Amino acid sequence: VGQDSVEVLGHSFPRDHFTNVTPKVLSKVGRNLHNQAHHPLWLIKERIKAHFYSAYTGRWGTPLFSVHDNLSPVVTVEQNFDSLLIPPDHPSRKPGDNYYLNRTTMLRAHTSAHQSEMVRSGLDAFLLAGDVYRRDEINASHYPVFHQMEGVRLFSSHELFSKVKNGEELSLFESGGRRTPHKQEMHTLEAVKLVEFDLKRTLTRLVTHLFGEDLEVRWVDCYFPFTHPSFEMEVRFQDDWMEVLGCGVMEQELLNSSGAGNKLGWAFGLGLERLAMVLYSIPDIRLFWSQDERFLKQFRVQDIHQPICFQLLSKYPPLHNDISFWLPGSRGSEEGRESFTQNDFYELVRSVGGDLVEKVSLVDEFTHPKTGRRSLCYRIVYRHMEHTLTQQEVRLIHQQIERAAEVELGVQGRY
Ligand code: PHE
Repeated sequence: VGQDSVEVLGHSFPRDHFTNVTPKVLSKVGRNLHNQAHHPLWLIKERIKAHFYSAYTGRWGTPLFSVHDNLSPVVTVEQNFDSLLIPPDHPSRKPGDNYYLNRTTMLRAHTSAHQSEMVRSGLDAFLLAGDVYRRDEINASHYPVFHQMEGVRLFSSHELFSKVKNGEELSLFESGGRRTPHKQEMHTLEAVKLVEFDLKRTLTRLVTHLFGEDLEVRWVDCYFPFTHPSFEMEVRFQDDWMEVLGCGVMEQELLNSSGAGNKLGWAFGLGLERLAMVLYSIPDIRLFWSQDERFLKQFRVQDIHQPICFQLLSKYPPLHNDISFWLPGSRGSEEGRESFTQNDFYELVRSVGGDLVEKVSLVDEFTHPKTGRRSLCYRIVYRHMEHTLTQQEVRLIHQQIERAAEVELGVQGRY
């Protein structure tokens, strides 16, 4: 372990001229916010899981989709790009946009990096949640680490056509076909349309489940090297259309090389932060990394379907008041000083002020030159989560704290 290698999740990767991971981004690897119970990203993931588990069951009532949320974000460049048919000179590979550990290894830029290996392992329907890494500006909606949920569903000819009248006469593939804006060359139009319909219905049901009936949704045509046709789903949010996911009919070449050449499939990748920001009106993506109890505790519900009423931390203004007092024991006797400890005071402030107290800090210390008595001054920041505090409200509590300090801690107020 030294300058010439990078340590990630207990593994060592030799540096080369591709290496561009920073200590800052590496410090996020392993945080796994999506696996942290009651974190908003975990909550969304759990709600999506629950929806897929209950809405899509197999022949014996077992869930159709398996869920995977523990795959390492350290992937090969092959997984992240080549396995998805992304050409060697594609701009999405540039070091300026990605975090490379070295020439062959990187932090995944999307959960699609696992599509191929999951299909090769025999899965026909799966969801995959994970942290993804992209070099980007840092602002309210961009952060170098975010979280995605990938979904893939494959169909055999039987699965796709069994519900269609005279379905046994239809086929998934044709030869001599052409690639058009609507389909890949080897797919029949009827197969693609059924897959596309199932994809859009599945995703519409999902967002309707998450957001409620009156959510407005629209589909926008787009391009991905690993799906065709490809779409983006946008939802109406605060008078604007916001992109929440990319999806499409999987490129057949991907399925062919992953051992599922007899099937058609759809895939989607959605941004968990995006969904959470819309769902809970969280204004800044950096808040997801907050360790602040006042943020986290708002998502600690008994039941994942319980509605969340997210209250922005800084929405209501704080008020502060100072409190100064002489410590007990005159003339600086050691005995007096020892009878007062800071934590006693903090505890007293908490017990009187409760959740209205946001912060207590020592702002001044003074020792009287003649008497040797010591005086402390604390600043108490008050803030209510649900309304703006008035000066009168705060003064009342503050006076209670002043009195309690004199009675319980034996200090002499300089109020
Ligand atoms: N991986 C794509 C992205 O990160 C999203 C996507 C997933 C698109 C699956 C199509 C299919 O933007």
